[in-house]
Amino acid sequence: MLTIFARVPCIRTEHPFFYNPEEYLMNTIDWNTYARAYDLLRSIAPYRTMHDQVADAVLHHYRNVPGRILDAGCGTGNLLTALVARNIPSAYMVGIDASRDMRVIAEQKHGALGADIRTADLNAPLPFASGTFSVITCINALYAVANPAATIREFARVLHPEGILIVVTPHHDANLGLILKAHCKSSKPDRYWMQFTQGDSFARALIQEAFEHNNFDPALLDILFTANTTIHASDEKHFLRLQELCDICKSAGLTPRLVKTTYAGQALLVHASPT
Ligand SMILES: C[S@@+](CC[C@H](N)C(=O)[O-])C[C@H]1O[C@@H](n2cnc3c(N)ncnc32)[C@H](O)[C@@H]1O
Repeated sequence: MLTIFARVPCIRTEHPFFYNPEEYLMNTIDWNTYARAYDLLRSIAPYRTMHDQVADAVLHHYRNVPGRILDAGCGTGNLLTALVARNIPSAYMVGIDASRDMRVIAEQKHGALGADIRTADLNAPLPFASGTFSVITCINALYAVANPAATIREFARVLHPEGILIVVTPHHDANLGLILKAHCKSSKPDRYWMQFTQGDSFARALIQEAFEHNNFDPALLDILFTANTTIHASDEKHFLRLQELCDICKSAGLTPRLVKTTYAGQALLVHASPT
């Protein structure tokens, strides 16, 4: 059965991350329920294309600066899979996530190969020494944290001086309908798919249409629907503008080196390295 937690007021504290962990997590979508449905995306463009793009960049950097790789908010481990496919040894990979069910799936895929999959909260100081990682990736997880600037500062702290941070995050005007359109390569006009924001019945119908050729379990599509409409409606999420993301990186001591869009043009892709 699908369980989405009720929204509760978020208590602000003097902690640099400005949140109360349990209450904050209850304000967000239920990532544990989302885990199995989320993992369906691994075989589909544009999600897979975006992961391949990031994995190629990781490989490029890893060849020049070999060292440990952190996937922050690793979900079900799909980026790590793309890295294994590029012959990067799992022993160099660390995946962290706050959701137990996401981690369980990642662990099933990668634990035996030696990747270190652990519990960690991106809303808190990271459990790593300064300068540990030569590459840090954070794909579609930064929007979900309480304070993206604080999280990026932590990434900057645990990044090696010659390291690189690669962030993918939905941009401020991202339209989920256009991502769905790319999933099924529809020839219908953008305005048809942009009806995703017009209410639950449109959103549900568009999700079904986007995935109709994939034979996914309808219960999993229902979870995709609920999770995505919850994310879209949440005022706790941070969908950043390009300038905001670059400014956050700069104030953490990281210089954006490459900036473009990815994920059907609905997400920002930024490479940043210590200034
Ligand atoms: C949309 S999924 C992306 C997963 C993965 N990066 C990928 O590209 O497939 C977002 C992930 O961020 C994780 N997440 C959300 N808030 C988090 C937090 N505060 N600390 C750690 N992980 C978090 C969720 O559990 C989820 O696995």
